Amino acid sequence: MCGIIGYIGDKSAQPILLNCLKRLEYRGYDSCGIAVAAGSLEVYKDAVRVEELARVAPQLNGTVGIGHTRWATHGEPSQVNAHPHLDCSGKIAVVHNGVINNFQRLKRQLTAEGHNFVSETDTEVISHLIEKYYAGNLEKAVEAALRDVDGSYAIIVLMAGEPKLVAARKDSPLIIGVSDRENFIASDVPAILDYTSRVIYLEEGDIGVVTKDNIKIRRHGTKVVGKEHKVLWSVEDAQKAGYEHFMLKEIHEQPRVIRDTLGGYISAAEPETKLVMMTEANLENMLVVACGTAYHAALVGKYIVGELVGIPVRTEIACEFTYCHQIPAGTAAIVITQSGETADTLKAMKRLKEAGCRVVAITNVVGSTASRIADQTIYTRAGPEISVAATKSFTAQLMVLYWLALSYSRVDIRRVDSLTMGLRQLPEKVQQVLDNEDKIRQYADYLSRYENVFFISRGINFPVALEGALKLKEISYIHAEGYAAGELKHGPFALLGASTPVIAIVARDNTYETMLTNIKEVKARGSPLMALAEEGDEAIEELADLVITVPRVDAIFSPVVNTVALQLLAYYTAKQRGCPIDFPRNLAKSVTVE
Ligand code: G6P
Repeated sequence: MCGIIGYIGDKSAQPILLNCLKRLEYRGYDSCGIAVAAGSLEVYKDAVRVEELARVAPQLNGTVGIGHTRWATHGEPSQVNAHPHLDCSGKIAVVHNGVINNFQRLKRQLTAEGHNFVSETDTEVISHLIEKYYAGNLEKAVEAALRDVDGSYAIIVLMAGEPKLVAARKDSPLIIGVSDRENFIASDVPAILDYTSRVIYLEEGDIGVVTKDNIKIRRHGTKVVGKEHKVLWSVEDAQKAGYEHFMLKEIHEQPRVIRDTLGGYISAAEPETKLVMMTEANLENMLVVACGTAYHAALVGKYIVGELVGIPVRTEIACEFTYCHQIPAGTAAIVITQSGETADTLKAMKRLKEAGCRVVAITNVVGSTASRIADQTIYTRAGPEISVAATKSFTAQLMVLYWLALSYSRVDIRRVDSLTMGLRQLPEKVQQVLDNEDKIRQYADYLSRYENVFFISRGINFPVALEGALKLKEISYIHAEGYAAGELKHGPFALLGASTPVIAIVARDNTYETMLTNIKEVKARGSPLMALAEEGDEAIEELADLVITVPRVDAIFSPVVNTVALQLLAYYTAKQRGCPIDFPRNLAKSVTVE
């Protein structure tokens, strides 16, 4: 996600802000900017690298300022969409990390009240709301503004003529860096490590008012004293938020990713958010094209849409789509691509467009090539994914697919309500899987001794078996294959035995009984059997040699909790084998050749 920084002290703010922004570059960004206040507020921002901004920016005078590296989520990367964002008077500047779910409604209201917006961002509503509520006290105005906001945020607010910074957070991290006669605010620790290692972690709902020698924190209206911590990490460790690898950090981000991706779609605040293509196109001819992990998301989508909308969905691997001759007229096409730059997927998109189809892209990168070719784009809000192995982007793609299927569902309204509730609970359920990490790590140690593994499942979890095998092979270099459990007897049985473990993904749906039979077949052939099953499943506990349990969810959501568990299993197996997890050999994050 975006990186944010604030500085207040005796020194010139500009070079310090720029240096801090450089320390945030690892997060990935497309534009950046700073605002510095002396008597008035001066802003400089653009869709450039920090280095370039430092080279071309005029000298901004002042010892208090804020800065931002932006990873676009609302509106393409451009100068006008870059942060900081101002109010109408040009006196209030805001940098923001997070997603404001109800920004369209707020923007309409504020526009009707005479506010003039210049960007496409969700953030800009915050500076205007603060302006609206400002009556001589900046902190109170920020508090009032945030009461209107639904979504996630870490913000820093700067106002001309006010020698202070106001910071607030909800579902997005924010820290205060403490030093002598100067203080910092940042989205994460690496930003400030060149200046101080004394850190206060702001908590949910905190509002901080920071001057050069004072820090005031209010938590839900009550004054609290922030506890100071000494950071002992190196800058590199800190960039991974203390996790050993980006992959592990990204796996752990998934509760937040689910909230952010769903926020804009299922939030009651914006019920009008709708996909345009489906109203016109022939729903019966739905085609989903993707590569790699995104293709596995497409396969899960096929089952989700099948169950909720009751229509067949055709799925194609993008590189093979070239050889498919049939594109029925009126096909409603969806491509799924984290990067929005995968060559095979882009080629498929162009072919679909040439055939007269409307194409919707589901992507994580605003302004990517896929988003430019598509007729409509639905963004996942996973934030930049640095590790080559896709994790949080997959989960975010599933969230969009659940939302889509629910939007067009033909099932009973009570089922829709119960599933919407289930979606809202998913961050918690995923957190429970993450809390089970130590147990999964023990099983990974066991798995790491083998060279061949089969993942089996049925129904909506069959693609999860494919994804589990893909994660394991790409980062641990263990040969792993995902199989439909029913297909195992048509060949792979010949390979089963004591040296080939089988991992069975078992959901409490209409596949359950048959999966039990398949597990017995595998055990009879001498393979060690590891099961991934719902908590409290005694039949599995008895049958399997090892069981990883996942929390109970509606079976349609089981791919989410199961995949997160398998991501952790792959991660710890690779770690045990000493593999270079974030950058596996021969693989690239974005494959831009056919
Ligand atoms: C590469 C990446 C995978 C990704 C696939 C598709 O192989 O290593 O993690 O799933 O490309 O990428 P896309 O950006 O189109 O989702």
